[in-house]
Amino acid sequence: MPKSTGIKNFNIAVFISGTGSNFINLIEHSLKKDSKYKIKLVISNNLNAKGLKYAKKYKIKKKIINYKDIINSEKNILNELDKNNIQIVCLAGFMKILTANFIKKFKGKIINIHPSLLPKYKGLNTHQRVLDNNENYSGCTVHYVNSKLDAGKIILQKKVKIFKNDTSEKLSKRILKHEHLLYPIALKKVISSL
Ligand code: GAR
Repeated sequence: MPKSTGIKNFNIAVFISGTGSNFINLIEHSLKKDSKYKIKLVISNNLNAKGLKYAKKYKIKKKIINYKDIINSEKNILNELDKNNIQIVCLAGFMKILTANFIKKFKGKIINIHPSLLPKYKGLNTHQRVLDNNENYSGCTVHYVNSKLDAGKIILQKKVKIFKNDTSEKLSKRILKHEHLLYPIALKKVISSL
């Protein structure tokens, strides 16, 4: 009998709002030989998100959602996810908050990357707040999304040392590099749990 290869092809949607460095990083990982997922769709609330250029380059379907009316916007997104057989949603610098209703419909299948050591420093402007509090460490966290902001179950976390001369910009750049290492590993972990 032929041996099972264990290959699973998960369809992923990435939600972005800006630069998209995590988006391109996930695309690159998805193109690796042993990858078990494909980035099938990118959703952006921002027509001018720089990261959208990667959708063009890698021929990934993109959908811009204007978010004027959240209920309709989320309806449209759910429709796109359904049409494209999306199994997992990766938030990557997506700056809109998903409603509890949306999260319920995709329960346990939405993950997010946040640039702090959650549960510390939820929300925005994390690096500056970390520096203002004279923390010795910050980091990044990949977590499941639940209806409370940045409060879902943690999948993986990386601690990053803060240096004396750090600025918010320097720290953000350094943590971003760790995000790029962490997110693909966390996604792999999620996939192997399904
Ligand atoms: C990343 O640092 C990500 O952790 C953060 O936005 C940046 C997006 O960068 N996300 C949040 O702050 C979510 N609350 P990217 O567009 O280059 O991936």
